[in-house]
Amino acid sequence: MKITVINGVQNKGCTFHMKDMFLDAVGKEHEAVEYHLPYNMPSFCSGCKACFYKDITACPHREYTVPIWESIKESDVIVITSPVYVLRATGQVKALLDHYASKFMVHSPDKELFFKKAVIITNSAGAGLKNVIRDIGTSLDWWGVAKRYSISQKLFETRWEKVSDKRKKSIEKQCLRITKKIEKPVKKPRLKIRLLFRIVKIMHKMLNKSFAKKGEPETADYQHWKNAGWLDGDKPWK
Ligand SMILES: Cc1cc2nc3c(=O)[nH]c(=O)nc-3n(C[C@H](O)[C@H](O)[C@H](O)COP(=O)(O)O)c2cc1C
Repeated sequence: MKITVINGVQNKGCTFHMKDMFLDAVGKEHEAVEYHLPYNMPSFCSGCKACFYKDITACPHREYTVPIWESIKESDVIVITSPVYVLRATGQVKALLDHYASKFMVHSPDKELFFKKAVIITNSAGAGLKNVIRDIGTSLDWWGVAKRYSISQKLFETRWEKVSDKRKKSIEKQCLRITKKIEKPVKKPRLKIRLLFRIVKIMHKMLNKSFAKKGEPETADYQHWKNAGWLDGDKPWK
């Protein structure tokens, strides 16, 4: 398996160690490509919307965003990590995710994403884990990611060396459980993704009809769906 890891912080703290525990559980025979935020993507979305009108190759920050997206597309598994910062995911994770808004299913999703597995790894001193899973999971869902899992732990500590063996064992257990799940091949995405796909398909057909009535041209998103054959009954999966 190829794994793309997006580290939501650069320091080698608790999040880094949890990610290493996960990669150890997966096994060294699998190739992991790691990105570190903000080093590998230091920019905020400028709001130019070039990705909506064309694609992410038109993004002013394409030197950062395109290689990470290409790595995601080539991977079997996407890992995104983030500790809890002020009850949310880190700002650098959000800054990266903003750059991939055009990959949302309502816009121009990539068919490869419907076969990906994703793992969110998070921890906190005590609160906010669910919010981080929601912050990152929202993008994973709207990208069409087939299966997503999370490894999360309240540490009640801020230094890894001080984290209790009991909590480290709990993380290890979660890593082993998720590893077994991601080894299974994906035939089609989970129900939520299949439902979103159907709803978006109907939405595009309706919107395009109303635009056509007003004499407006087809949108880039509509053309993406049309060219993929998804408006004529084709689906990315069998
Ligand atoms: C800026 C900042 C904000 C934080 N906000 C929270 C928080 O809202 N809730 C919480 O339980 N812990 C919070 N923490 C603690 C971290 O989530 C916790 O120490 C985590 O293990 C840090 O991960 P790291 O060691 O990989 O940097 C915060 C830490 C920082 C630096």
